[in-house]
Amino acid sequence: MPGILQQLQETSSFIKSLYPHTPQVGIVLGSGLGNFAQEIQVEKEIPYEAIPHFPVSTVEGHHGKLIFGELGGKKVVVMAGRFHFYEGYTPEQVVYPIRVMKHLGIGYLLLSNAAGGVNPAFKVGDLMVITDHISLSTINPLIGKNHSELGPRFPDMSEPYSKALIKKVRAIAAAAGIKLQEGVYFGVTGPTFETRAEYKLIHRLGGDAVGMSTVQEVIVAIHMGLPVFAVSVITDIGIREEDNIITHEEVLQAAKEAEPKLTIIFKQLVAGL
Ligand code: HPA
Repeated sequence: MPGILQQLQETSSFIKSLYPHTPQVGIVLGSGLGNFAQEIQVEKEIPYEAIPHFPVSTVEGHHGKLIFGELGGKKVVVMAGRFHFYEGYTPEQVVYPIRVMKHLGIGYLLLSNAAGGVNPAFKVGDLMVITDHISLSTINPLIGKNHSELGPRFPDMSEPYSKALIKKVRAIAAAAGIKLQEGVYFGVTGPTFETRAEYKLIHRLGGDAVGMSTVQEVIVAIHMGLPVFAVSVITDIGIREEDNIITHEEVLQAAKEAEPKLTIIFKQLVAGL
């Protein structure tokens, strides 16, 4: 097994042989948020299964693709589909594409996800700018030998979500009349949605939203010194008192409905970087 740097070099040179430009911004699209890709002037698409050292899909059929192109006058690389720990990938596999995008040259990482609301003030369809996260119940992807070529052994996590990018997004949303929530994303492994007691506990522990992705990606981005902006689409309210069954279909539908707001924010944020 080659070292991480050699793997990243092999993956990057394969990608560069198909798409020679340097992307400036990396974007990850969460569940139900794939339509955003239509905003991109696509220059090249590469299915994950064609890319050396990318995780091999655990499910039948194609898992996703990297989309290269232009958005708001910038070169972007978009992950349409991400890898989740609950699918059986190791934490290192989950974050490998983030490391690849950094190695390709991105200067910013924008993430989106579908998440359950545990702040009682939230409504389905709200966008929540992630200002911080709690990763106590996810597996840290930096466990193991530190790849000192990529970053330090003990990364500082006092500003995992760039304050400068959050400030830009607040201005964009205000000008566009989009209401934004802000809060703490509580990472869990899934794949079960939470029990009623767990939603309550997560809220007591300081979470405003809960989800099964993002945290591990943010950790490796910070390890590499990459500024991150992340936003959750609140697709269900776990904390409500009445009987509350949450389905994957409900999550996808709510994400789809909120997508136009997310599109405005990502598009304008990229244009202004
Ligand atoms: N919990 C965890 N992950 C989620 C949820 C949720 O309620 N909704 C969407 N992703």
